[in-house]
Amino acid sequence: MSVKIAPSILSADFVNLERELGRIATADLVHVDVMDNHFVPNLTLGLPVVKRIAEISPVPVDVHLMIEDADRWAPEFARAGAASVTFHAEATQAPVRLARELRSLGARAGVAVRPATPVEPFLDLLPELDMVLVMTVEPGFGGQSFIEGTLPKVRRTREAITRAGTGTWLQVDGGVSRETIARIAQAGADVFVAGSAVYGADDVEGEIAALRQLAST
Ligand code: DX5
Ligand code: ZN
Repeated sequence: MSVKIAPSILSADFVNLERELGRIATADLVHVDVMDNHFVPNLTLGLPVVKRIAEISPVPVDVHLMIEDADRWAPEFARAGAASVTFHAEATQAPVRLARELRSLGARAGVAVRPATPVEPFLDLLPELDMVLVMTVEPGFGGQSFIEGTLPKVRRTREAITRAGTGTWLQVDGGVSRETIARIAQAGADVFVAGSAVYGADDVEGEIAALRQLAST
């Protein structure tokens, strides 16, 4: 299980995206939060911006869709060049059909669950999924505190992935920092989204290295 660090550009300077992407070239992925002001009470960026990010990013693009009607929109983000597309469990009518469609477009397929949404219905579907995202804050904003009560869900998800032997990635998103990352790693996560921790640091490259180190011990 190799640790992957995915800085979230939600905490980056949105008028200098090219420079901000260049600062995270030592990361494994760039996490791009797409919000529609319906699924969550915030609005960020959409398809044309994701398409340009995918063209110039030094690392693969990991899109996190916090939008309604994922069945309609998620494939468009795969076509826009995202390496992985994660839709919310609460926003799809047909998760298996959608995951298959994303894979057929050459993207990795992920499903995300809010802190209060059970992950169990998806644990039987692991062969259909490249990633499960356990939200460790309420989706919508960067800079929130990690919700400790989500750790048992991370643990149960890791146990199910191990049992299934699918190699599905287990991502966590929200409140990941030097203070929290080691115990989230111990609970079984292997892909760590970090927005404010990375872009709030003076030494971005050093912060990515420190997070990677703490998650690997
Ligand atoms: C929140 C987003 C996150 C956000 C995390 O809904 O999904 O990706 O950028 O921010 P931090 O790391 O600051 O909690
Ligand atoms: Zn996110």
